[in-house]
Amino acid sequence: MKRPPLSARKTLRDIDADRLRGAVVALRADFNVPLDAGGVADATRIERTVPTIDYLVAAGSRVVILSHLGRPGGRVRSELTLSPVADCLGGLVEAPVAFLPHTAGDTVRDAVAGMVRGSVLLLENTRFLPGETEGDPALAAEWARWADHFVLEGFGTAHRAHASTDGLPRAVKRKGGEAVAGFLVAEELEVLGGVLDDPGRPFAAVIGGAKISGKIDVIEALLPRVDVLMVGGAMANTFFLAMGMETGTSFVEPHKAAVARRILEDAGPRLLLPVDCVVAASLAPGVETRCVDRTAVTTEDVIGDVGPVTADLFQAGLSDASTIVWNGPMGVFEIDAFAGGTHAVSVGAAAAGEAGATVIIGGGDSVAAVRSAGVENLVTHISTGGGASLDLLAGKALPGLEALSGRAGAGDSRGTEA
Ligand code: 3PG
Repeated sequence: MKRPPLSARKTLRDIDADRLRGAVVALRADFNVPLDAGGVADATRIERTVPTIDYLVAAGSRVVILSHLGRPGGRVRSELTLSPVADCLGGLVEAPVAFLPHTAGDTVRDAVAGMVRGSVLLLENTRFLPGETEGDPALAAEWARWADHFVLEGFGTAHRAHASTDGLPRAVKRKGGEAVAGFLVAEELEVLGGVLDDPGRPFAAVIGGAKISGKIDVIEALLPRVDVLMVGGAMANTFFLAMGMETGTSFVEPHKAAVARRILEDAGPRLLLPVDCVVAASLAPGVETRCVDRTAVTTEDVIGDVGPVTADLFQAGLSDASTIVWNGPMGVFEIDAFAGGTHAVSVGAAAAGEAGATVIIGGGDSVAAVRSAGVENLVTHISTGGGASLDLLAGKALPGLEALSGRAGAGDSRGTEA
């Protein structure tokens, strides 16, 4: 499917102030944040929604926030309540934040009816309801009963066709409301769209993480767009398997080996795989490790990281680049002995950024790695969307964006359809 121009979507600034005054605005955020001892461990995603929430509060809207947290599988799991997020948000925005331990139904309708202008209400985890991930139209319609307008501020959820990201904005539009991108989503689209439309060359992508299955489409779609694509993390193991190499007890996805083989045949020199690995008997802290050529992995070994030769190779690829997109760690970077590859990519990307390259980082682990390397300030853009940013860069249509109102004359008829 051809991707519509990103500028074809309306943003919050396209809604007149008098339409926001007193209106109930359903704001879909991505408050899928790490928790620690019942509190929010990293508030970045929450902080980055604040300008939009404050804007709506100042405009006199009644702001009802919906978000998921984790993957509770359609049932209530008390450890995934959004209550700690409400506490955190309350300290950041210009209005008191109320938390309602319900996600839909009469209690929500009554609470919304009782809201005053300029107030904020956070509902409970949308994924406590099975209809959310099923994209249940009845659930979307139920939310749309009280929502006058919809704002997508959870960029990280834009690639999900769920009830709150896809059904709700369409239902709001059907009743005459606007469904628009918030400031954070608009910023993400501007930065990522710039890379998509006109990347500075050479364009380098680094893709890591555990599973190839979630990212194989992205690898295929990115390959023709980039000048070099470096693959690390456990997903490289499936390529090794496809090349007939020993991977020991490492994580592999045999059902993806045929696709990996096809990619290897098509990619040519643009695809860079690790040439050496850090291996051990297990992926545990303090375990004894060895650096070996990728052809020297034994049946007893588990691969925990890319090796030093690969780290140099990847850094060299990054040092030449004008545009860098990085998503996913090169190894089990939570364990020091397997953190070298991810650290090398952090440093290499940051050095390229310092030299003028556009560097875009997405995915919680890569962002954490850049922070722990202390080079966050050298990166051009830290995306709040992991999978969403990759899908966008791969040229895929994102359901959450497709569902927003279209700008008249922007050359995208689908933007206005229900
Ligand atoms: C993310 O953290 O990438 C988003 O919140 C999406 O989460 P999901 O992969 O569980 O849909």
